[in-house]
Amino acid sequence: MPKKVTKAVIAAAGFGTRFLPQTKAMPKEMLPLIDKPIIQYVVEELVEAGIKDIIIVTGYHKRSIEDHFDQMSADLRENLEQGHKAELLEQTKSISHLANFAYVRQKGSYGSATPLLNIAHLIGDEPFIYTFADDLIPSEPNRFTQMMKLYDEFQCTILPCRKLEEEAEYGRYGVVSGEVIREGVLKLDGIVEKPGSKDKAPSDMGSIGGYLLTPEIFPYINKAADNLPVDKEFYLTTYGLEPMLKDHIAMYGCTLTNSKYYDTGNKLEYLKTVVDYALKRDDIGPDFKAYLHTVLN
Ligand code: G1P
Repeated sequence: MPKKVTKAVIAAAGFGTRFLPQTKAMPKEMLPLIDKPIIQYVVEELVEAGIKDIIIVTGYHKRSIEDHFDQMSADLRENLEQGHKAELLEQTKSISHLANFAYVRQKGSYGSATPLLNIAHLIGDEPFIYTFADDLIPSEPNRFTQMMKLYDEFQCTILPCRKLEEEAEYGRYGVVSGEVIREGVLKLDGIVEKPGSKDKAPSDMGSIGGYLLTPEIFPYINKAADNLPVDKEFYLTTYGLEPMLKDHIAMYGCTLTNSKYYDTGNKLEYLKTVVDYALKRDDIGPDFKAYLHTVLN
């Protein structure tokens, strides 16, 4: 029987420099998408897929993330009760019950492999999800459910991927290579972190956020951490996934079905995300759409 995936790790220690000065005192993960912080959408997506334990890797400037997933204060509860705001009360109350939350402060070199070094002792011998707090990828079925289904079949690391369309994207994504074994599923044999241009890339399939990892990753990044060149970013891809593939450890890539990719970590994409999510809302969507027409015409 394949092991069930019940744990997830969210990397949330970054400074959010692309959003300064907004992120001087507020974590980028707490930027709002209408009335919820971006990180809550990621948490809800994980919970919908059956994740029970969520470890958020943070830093000293991230206290509001912990406060957000904590119980509401007595003052706020009283205020909502007295104002007869039952729906808001329920919504706000339910946040702390979404999952079992644990927080670990990030220590070590800058890069996507470091949060994993910091939480390895909490994972044990289980597969787990590792995701970023700024990649929103609404999919049908849920993206993590799609990946878990493939894990049940192959019992190895699963990387969600998308076809890259613009030349500039080759400087922003890890690019995978491998053999298509059926529609939407690739048996991987390589990954190159940010090749920079299409002609240097092994394919046009970019690896996107939300990895399903196995504990096999830990010895690779542990070993790499001891010998890391000082001027290099500690990428999970370069120091974990790529050497695993060189050692012929099985790994699959999948293109998610019915999915849309939002990288809320940059200003323009963040704005597009806000617009799309607002248009989808029943309460404000129609009025917002009418307003956009007046602005654009
Ligand atoms: C990270 C990964 C990269 C991946 C990307 C997806 O890059 O290193 O392989 O394609 O996330 O968003 P980052 O965005 O941290 O530079």
